[in-house]
Amino acid sequence: MAETQGNDILVSFRGVQKSYDGENLIVKDLNLDIRKGEFLTLLGPSGSGKTTSLMMLAGFETPTAGEILLGGRAINKLPPHKRDIGMVFQNYALFPHMTVAENLAFPLSVRGVSKSDIAERVARALGMVQLEALAGRYPAQMSGGQQQRVALARALVFEPQLVLMDEPLGALDKQLREHMQMEIKHLHQRLGVTVVYVTHDQGEALTMSDRVAVFHQGEIQQIASPRQLYEEPCNAFVANFIGENNRINGRLVSQTGERCVVELPRGEQVEALAVRVGQPGEQVSLSVRPERVRINGHSSACDNRFSGRVAEFIYLGDHVRVRLEVAGQNNFFVKQPIAELDPALAVGDVVPLGWQVEHVRALDPLTAE
Ligand SMILES: Nc1ncnc2c1ncn2[C@@H]1O[C@H](COP(=O)(O)OP(=O)(O)O)[C@@H](O)[C@H]1O
Ligand SMILES: [Mg+2]
Repeated sequence: MAETQGNDILVSFRGVQKSYDGENLIVKDLNLDIRKGEFLTLLGPSGSGKTTSLMMLAGFETPTAGEILLGGRAINKLPPHKRDIGMVFQNYALFPHMTVAENLAFPLSVRGVSKSDIAERVARALGMVQLEALAGRYPAQMSGGQQQRVALARALVFEPQLVLMDEPLGALDKQLREHMQMEIKHLHQRLGVTVVYVTHDQGEALTMSDRVAVFHQGEIQQIASPRQLYEEPCNAFVANFIGENNRINGRLVSQTGERCVVELPRGEQVEALAVRVGQPGEQVSLSVRPERVRINGHSSACDNRFSGRVAEFIYLGDHVRVRLEVAGQNNFFVKQPIAELDPALAVGDVVPLGWQVEHVRALDPLTAE
């Protein structure tokens, strides 16, 4: 597969490692192909190695081992300004003593673009982010959102083949952040440029990306489309980091092909998808999304059936989250659309509930860290 796709790959990390102190590997063994034109997000908790990976691609950090290819060419020795990469950071990094137009002209003049071409390209980049009217302003005369748009335009103005963004919306408030997410996504679709985007915000990653690489402790845990990450997490870390998740600990009884039987601490048995399990007798964690759990009459056709005691209702407008005590745990959540909620249901009620085998995944036990 890798061979037939050769021409579609823009960036390859091959066995890339990074240590700052010569002892601890911050990036452990990064192997990653980034396709031309895709929007790829590196998602993970703080300290998982996302920025370090991005900085190696940009050329501001050097890998301790392995190599990075850009357009099929090893770039380990190529300085940042020769990589044809645009960058956007959280803190904008605009030149405060330059106007918007001068900020945008800068990357072009250092590349030796002629004066008349510069004027034309600056105007086009300003149009892309709808800031034509503010060309003469200084950064301090603009809002955070406007400054970030300028930073975006500056990263795109020299028409790089690749744009890297490191938490570019982190300093903006929620509403503006969501607006800018859509703006960046649409800009990517229009321009067809390859984007590598870093965030610790899973909602942002799912909204914007073609593919997401989930980082944890310097390693990619899973790389997949947003939908696949959410529906088919490959391990307990991904299942818990992305979206909401009910977790039940148990012990593997047996495995038959893609399915397995898991025994819970009180002796109940659950049939589940055997996604990441060891040998019979070993610990596993079961993962079920709250919207996949059926309660009352809806549960009668389910493969796995339990009962639970209603502990709390949490109203969220269009849906309700019902917290239940199930299998000895008091943090089991069911997500119900308002229209499906039985109005007679009350705290303290014991109700039947269940889910289908294809919606419960047996994963590795979560280790406390
Ligand atoms: N220049 C540096 N020198 C030493 N350690 C660093 C440096 N940059 C990052 N680190 C360490 O590397 C780890 C990963 O950092 P980073 O790549 O910034 O993670 P992320 O972007 O996922 O939050 C952290 O533990 C951080 O303290
Ligand atoms: Mg970072």
